[in-house]
Amino acid sequence: MIQAPKGTFDVLPEDAARRELLEGHARKILGAAGYRRIETPTFEATELFARGVGEATDIVQKEMYTFDDGAGRSLTLRPEGTAPICRAYIEHGMHKLPQPVKLWYLGRYYRAEAPQRGRYRQFSQVGAEAIGSATPETDAELIVLLADLLEAGGVRRTRLHLSSLGTPETRAEYRAELVAYLRAHESLLSDEVATRIDLSPLRAFDATDAGTREVMQAAPKLLDRLAAEDAQHFAAVRALLDDAGVSYELDPTLVRGLDYYTRTVFEFASDALGAQSGVGGGGRYDRLIEQLDGPPTPASGWAAGIERILLAAGAPPPAAELVDLFVALASPDGRRTAFELSRAARRAGLQAQQELGNRSLKGQLRHADRIGARYVAIVGDGASKGVAGGAAGLVSLKNMESGEQRDTTADEVIPTILRGIRP
Ligand code: HAM
Repeated sequence: MIQAPKGTFDVLPEDAARRELLEGHARKILGAAGYRRIETPTFEATELFARGVGEATDIVQKEMYTFDDGAGRSLTLRPEGTAPICRAYIEHGMHKLPQPVKLWYLGRYYRAEAPQRGRYRQFSQVGAEAIGSATPETDAELIVLLADLLEAGGVRRTRLHLSSLGTPETRAEYRAELVAYLRAHESLLSDEVATRIDLSPLRAFDATDAGTREVMQAAPKLLDRLAAEDAQHFAAVRALLDDAGVSYELDPTLVRGLDYYTRTVFEFASDALGAQSGVGGGGRYDRLIEQLDGPPTPASGWAAGIERILLAAGAPPPAAELVDLFVALASPDGRRTAFELSRAARRAGLQAQQELGNRSLKGQLRHADRIGARYVAIVGDGASKGVAGGAAGLVSLKNMESGEQRDTTADEVIPTILRGIRP
């Protein structure tokens, strides 16, 4: 039996309804702040991610679905949306538009990760990018918008982790300082941390053994090494969040899996999720556009996982849609009337379905009940009742709530239902 590939899933109709609802929240919340929808291709030149996300990242090293297009070009299923949007910004000369250019998106992304709860190989992100502004207000506004979206999506008990990474230069100097500090205290570190000092010194902050933890208490922190302008920028972001009543935890060891970040970085985590606790995150990426051969352009943004939002919210699917009318067939004579009636009902704004099986009338009524139809119109009954030309004209309309049933004409069905459901 052929099954969906590992790490993928089907979105069944109940799930689709929840996803649509969430998309509606995103459209409303981001639209109200002037963000406009953008869509980019599902695959891009591999080089875009290698240069944009960073050669050394796990994403580029291990998680990309890369293939040859048959003409010697290397393409990759997009693992994230920021580099593609920067590519589009450059390609369409969006720097000539009023800045910042504020964009939002929702789509599928692909990472060859080990699947687990909340981690898939094909997943969906909703994201927002503000390109062309360096102000702290942009960062704070983006964070508030994500907080609003998570709230609207029903995600409770989130924690916002916040930090600043400064510039790549500051980070390089800091890294050297941290490596020197770890070397000086090497004998107190766990073997695992000690052997990885040069490779990933920052990981030492995540260690759980007592020796390493004690050493790390006094270790230099990047936040204390920021250049003056970067520290000021960060203080301004924090002040805006404080004013907005958005609480956060300063997390000097917050690492994001992408190399393009500068200054502000943030991540919302939810306890409801377990190991894959990140619901959404992002930050500022002031060098990325230039790195992709565009004009120097500061920018900031975030993305959140649709599946993780839905998992964290755990809300039941929205109530099934109401079926206003089911058109049942008493005899094949009524076929054309049934077809026309259901179409006219839809045009009048009703949710209307017609019999598409070959069920007996009794079976059709049972079906109408199962799908929750409020009214059933039975057509094709005229001949048996001896009505002249009756197949087309006579309709028996049943109100499924009250059980009341009476004969009427096809023309009267829609007005009667409209009066009944919108008195
Ligand atoms: P990211 O943190 O890699 O950031 O991904 C954003 C969100 O996508 C995560 O918080 C998570 O909810 C979801 N996600 C990531 N990988 C998976 C997966 N394998 N399965 C399910 N959900 C996943 C970015 O992608 C950046 N482009 C965000 C950004 C925008 N930064 C600036 N602008």
